[in-house]
Amino acid sequence: MLLLPPCLFFMFEDDLSSVVVSELDLRERVTSLGAEISEAYASIPELTVLCVTNGAVVFAADLIRSIHLSLRLDCISVTNYHCDEAGFTPQELAGSLRLDIQGRHVLLIDDVVDTGRTLRGIVSALEGLKPRSLKTCVLLSKEGRREVGEDADFIGFTIPDLFVVGYGLDFAERYRNLSCVGVLRPDLQNPPAWQ
Ligand code: IMP
Ligand code: MG
Repeated sequence: MLLLPPCLFFMFEDDLSSVVVSELDLRERVTSLGAEISEAYASIPELTVLCVTNGAVVFAADLIRSIHLSLRLDCISVTNYHCDEAGFTPQELAGSLRLDIQGRHVLLIDDVVDTGRTLRGIVSALEGLKPRSLKTCVLLSKEGRREVGEDADFIGFTIPDLFVVGYGLDFAERYRNLSCVGVLRPDLQNPPAWQ
């Protein structure tokens, strides 16, 4: 039998210099956010939830189980999207969607709103697909960082201007599977092994 060396079982929670949102706080807030969303949409027949991958997958997976409404789920991939550049056309965005959102009540779920450019870009493109209504929900909103767009309609937590990982948020595609949100130790940013 192959025995793995103990170093492969390291507690990578130790890679954080601080916890910004604990696992318990995440669980409680996601449940209450689900209740807020369920109440806000109580009178509609069906909700269409769009999850921005990869960052929002963990949040969305938990959140939709706290939304007690009939809903359809789809994902949008916006990797390498920079609003400073050409951005998305509604047609390009539609290419990553399987569901037709025309005439539907749409809730867009993302991980974090920082400058607001990503969310603003996706919202503008989705508006071109003529949803009946379009609201946004983010797990985290960074204080004092907004450059464009409105705040999200539903916000999990407002946090200070820190680069955070965990609960779906990554650094170089790592740490998405942490159960809390925290700040990565500076000595672990850009280690040579990740190049
Ligand atoms: P914005 O366009 O400046 O609002 O940036 C939003 C996007 O940048 C998010 O969807 C994330 O992909 C990424 N991002 C911004 N801040 C963080 C962070 O603290 N940790 C991980 N990703 C972040
Ligand atoms: Mg993202």
